[in-house]
Amino acid sequence: MSDASQLITQTADFVRDKFLHEGSGHDWAHIRRVWHVARALAQQTPHADVLVTELGALLHDVADWKFHDGDEEAGPRAARTWLESQGANEAVIQRVEAIIREISFKGLGVATPMSTVEGELVQDADRLDAIGAIGVARAFAYGGHKGRPLHDPEVAPIEHASFESYKQNTAPTINHFYEKLLHLRERLNTPAARRVAEERHQFMEQFLEQFLREWDSQDVA
Ligand code: ADP
Ligand code: NI
Repeated sequence: MSDASQLITQTADFVRDKFLHEGSGHDWAHIRRVWHVARALAQQTPHADVLVTELGALLHDVADWKFHDGDEEAGPRAARTWLESQGANEAVIQRVEAIIREISFKGLGVATPMSTVEGELVQDADRLDAIGAIGVARAFAYGGHKGRPLHDPEVAPIEHASFESYKQNTAPTINHFYEKLLHLRERLNTPAARRVAEERHQFMEQFLEQFLREWDSQDVA
């Protein structure tokens, strides 16, 4: 096995062990999908470094700020500690750290450009997993984890313009669709990801329409 494929296998094992029993929507199955989708995108993208893409995908949620008191450096730091322990090359470590630092959605008013092509691919794979049927399930898993109501028609969605306001938001889960998920289709970096997003986006719109009808029992004669 090459050094690169050994590093990927070891990293996948490390992340799988860490996330196997996670129930907040940041579970191993999410990370595995992001890894496979990002790798497929990288294989179709000239000049993309597949090793950096795979490591970035595997480690992108390793210490998410949402679960570490808002500390945005916790993720890059945890990735560096792991990759150094495996003897990874410093240039690779720096590129993986940048992916983790830049990937997160931070509110509708905050641009989150990725500084590398590998980052663009991992961000697309991560965002594809936040929409569609899986995206719906993950949003409610996250809301349940935080003890939030499914929906409250009295609480209007807000277009969070700053990261602070997005971070502090504790609205019901349905609001998250209007505050983030329905906007992801337009914020993808690659045409390949945009094509996949189309059907997933339509599914979410259909889900919301049906959810809101059932909320008021409008479908009961
Ligand atoms: P990603 O993994 O796409 O970067 P996040 O790390 O922001 O997404 O969130 C992980 C999952 O939890 C995603 O599916 C996301 O939509 C969901 N999530 C994040 N914040 C909320 C929220 N306030 N309400 C419901 N779901 C949320
Ligand atoms: Ni993720």
